[in-house]
Amino acid sequence: MRSPIPDYLASALSSVEADHSGATADYIPELRDADPDRLAVAVCTEDGQMYSQGDCEVEFSIQSISKPLVYALALADRGFDEVLGKVGVEPSGDAFNEMSFDTEFGRPLNPMINAGAIATHSLVGRHDATAEQQVERIVDGLSAFAGRRLEVDESVFESEISTSFRNRALANMLRANGTIHDDPLIAVAGYTRQCSLLVTVEDLARMAATLSNRGVNPVTGAPVVPAAVVRQTLSVMATCGMYDGAGDWMTRVGVPAKSGVAGGMIGALPGQAGIATFSPRLDKHGNSVRGAELFQRFTSEMGMHLMDVAPPGLAAVRGRRIVGEGDEAITIVSLQGNLAFAGAERFLRNLVEEPLTTKRVGIGIVRVGSIADVGRRMILEAIRRLTLDGHDVYLIDADGLLPDPDPGHGGRVTIVNAPGDILRINGLDL
Ligand code: DON
Repeated sequence: MRSPIPDYLASALSSVEADHSGATADYIPELRDADPDRLAVAVCTEDGQMYSQGDCEVEFSIQSISKPLVYALALADRGFDEVLGKVGVEPSGDAFNEMSFDTEFGRPLNPMINAGAIATHSLVGRHDATAEQQVERIVDGLSAFAGRRLEVDESVFESEISTSFRNRALANMLRANGTIHDDPLIAVAGYTRQCSLLVTVEDLARMAATLSNRGVNPVTGAPVVPAAVVRQTLSVMATCGMYDGAGDWMTRVGVPAKSGVAGGMIGALPGQAGIATFSPRLDKHGNSVRGAELFQRFTSEMGMHLMDVAPPGLAAVRGRRIVGEGDEAITIVSLQGNLAFAGAERFLRNLVEEPLTTKRVGIGIVRVGSIADVGRRMILEAIRRLTLDGHDVYLIDADGLLPDPDPGHGGRVTIVNAPGDILRINGLDL
């Protein structure tokens, strides 16, 4: 069979192809002169499968899409306290290049606007790192996100730096307020290099997929940043990634995203996939017009809005029955699906609302897909309480799905591979 996904992506591209609205970024000469008709899309799943269509080979500069990735590197290198002390996490409601500064806390409002991104650039690497070493760390880090070595486009760099009057003003404002300590011009040069890194739409999809995959590049398997850093980064992308269009984006599209003025855009769907688009004409916020249309299409057609979640708890208890008689009798409660808070709560409620009538209780997790940490803790606490109530508890966990099954103080559980181990009864459908 041929996968329908590339066909779907190709038809999505054709549906937006005719839209020539918007314009290339005119404040950077190299970007103004780019071919405005380029169009590409790539989707990389959280296990590394890539689907792409259109101008996938074309390289363009990453621009502001570097901002969340460099923010992640700064958090990983310097820790949350230092980074949050210098750069906030509040949406500015302003354009990306606004002279925006939170005077109450003495820091830029967030790392997605240029003021915050220049400050974030100077927070990467060790405290004693030189400006060159910070750029090197960023090139290495972004290459790890992409899964291949990235290079700076020197002509884009020269073109932007020669006209970067506004960013210089921002860096001077940061220096005057003590947010950065470097020479403001050197900070702008480093930040502009970061923005001039060349990527393809597939690179961007792998970068986004690394964010979707808790910080591990799904293609190379390399851990790039810790999971806690990814959570912070995706949250800031969701609230501030699309600048003064962030609220509109989050409600209509609902995917944490970031755009760049060369026409790239990424969206990261946690636990599912990284998506990237490329089309250079921009709207008034500096976001790709056709990229935004494509994302909106994916959301409505593929159910990608973050707030559209299938109810995970409803069918967590697959069944409950008593098997065997007398002292041999055992109540088997079989669970299924993905057990996070809602699913585990259904399990607890089942035990509370329907009191057990047998001394022996078996909890079957053979058909469970995954157990979140909160689900694990709730199951173990149920086991502890059942033991204290006088029950003998068995956990039927053939695949070792529930790690470290210690129910804690007063609790006891026997792990069995299959129901037959307890019952010697064949054909029991868990
Ligand atoms: O600093 C700048 O203005 C550019 N290097 C990056 C701006 C950007 O990509 C805004 N996003 N859409």
